[in-house]
Amino acid sequence: MSDRETWATRPGFVLAAIGSAVGLGNLWQFPFKTATNGGAAFVVFYLVAVALVGFPAMLAEFVLGRRTHVNAVDAFSRLGHRKWRAVGGLAVLTGFWILSYYNVVGGWVLRYILGSARGAYFSDPAGYFGSVSAGLDAVVAQAVFLALVVGIVALGIEDGIEKATKVMVPSIVVLMVALAAWVATLPGAAAGYDFFLSPDPGAMVANAGTIIPFAVGQAFFTLSLGMAIMVTYSSYVGGDDNLVADGGAIVVTNTLVGILAGLVVFPILLTIGAEVTTGTGGAGALFVATAAGFGTVPFGRLFGVVFFGVVLIAALSSAISLLETAVAYANDNYDVPRHYLAPAIGVALFLLGLPSALDTAWLTWFDSFAYQVFLPLSVLATAVFVGWVLGRDAVAELREGTGGLGAGGEVWLWTVRVVVVAAIVLTLALGINEMFL
Ligand code: PHE
Ligand code: NA
Repeated sequence: MSDRETWATRPGFVLAAIGSAVGLGNLWQFPFKTATNGGAAFVVFYLVAVALVGFPAMLAEFVLGRRTHVNAVDAFSRLGHRKWRAVGGLAVLTGFWILSYYNVVGGWVLRYILGSARGAYFSDPAGYFGSVSAGLDAVVAQAVFLALVVGIVALGIEDGIEKATKVMVPSIVVLMVALAAWVATLPGAAAGYDFFLSPDPGAMVANAGTIIPFAVGQAFFTLSLGMAIMVTYSSYVGGDDNLVADGGAIVVTNTLVGILAGLVVFPILLTIGAEVTTGTGGAGALFVATAAGFGTVPFGRLFGVVFFGVVLIAALSSAISLLETAVAYANDNYDVPRHYLAPAIGVALFLLGLPSALDTAWLTWFDSFAYQVFLPLSVLATAVFVGWVLGRDAVAELREGTGGLGAGGEVWLWTVRVVVVAAIVLTLALGINEMFL
């Protein structure tokens, strides 16, 4: 969308936001973080973080966007707070950082589409993941995925992807439900559900310090928060939209897709006896599990191509939303046409993503840094601004289009002011402690 159009329809906004939200964060990262952070205990912290921190923070970004109708950086000056522009800048930077390795995982997905067609991973799913996820192969795949993203943004044909989102989300749900039903019959199903869904209270308490930063970071990542995206999208929304209902629909859909991914992945991993908590069961969880699954069912190649094809659309629509945000900002502020900007930013992204493509240890480090530092800092600054600087004005904006929120507006404001801020300060302290001290 260019300049100051508004979404033609309200579902247009909700669908685009869902297209951004539903992506590798749900399908790849959620099972991966769950596996490496203690299973069901992580899921509990994550769900609490989504409800108490992520959802209110998403509404804060919506308020900022719709109040100003400009990009995420200029929104602050528009509200008369020039020096807060740095917060918008941090959000753009956070998105850039994340996109650098998101493209690498997008490249893996491309490899898995080819691999499915040839049945290349059927004999050794874990070994196959090891061979395509790092090194020169991964660099080439990263470049191809990035070229797709850049090409779509440069040509301004996101429309096509947005339309694909309408089909993508229902297809993901249908495919995942079908896979989950099949997986339920596997011998490792019970153990998989147990790992994913039965938290051990003792372990939850004992490991809270390491789990919380990743659970909160996951909530932000998966909801596309702290990256200027939701501010940008809501800047095109009209005053009669109910932001609370829209946000609720986005959060629920996004959460559902993640839960479905876990219901598919863990029974398979436990059936094939993979190391769940590390390596191939960690960053490789989605890939190894589903590949092993497709290797044993009839028409596995066909299922594999369709499944990873849908994952590709989900990854593309998310990556595009990020690059689009960066391009939109640069486009608003500097007089450079988008067909130059998109490739230039693409080259920078490629270089920043190189370490992650060469070695998954680097990818994990970039990812952890995003979760433990960039995302919490960025969302924190936005929450402080909306909660404490805008304050009652923010509530007035949120009310618009809801037909009155009753006490809900105040509840939201104090949640942003206190709960969101305190949770993120805790997250930052724990995360920085874990990473650096
Ligand atoms: N929310 C997206 C997902 O879950 C990830 C994303 C990250 C999207 C950054 C845009 C920007 O996959
Ligand atoms: Na998501």
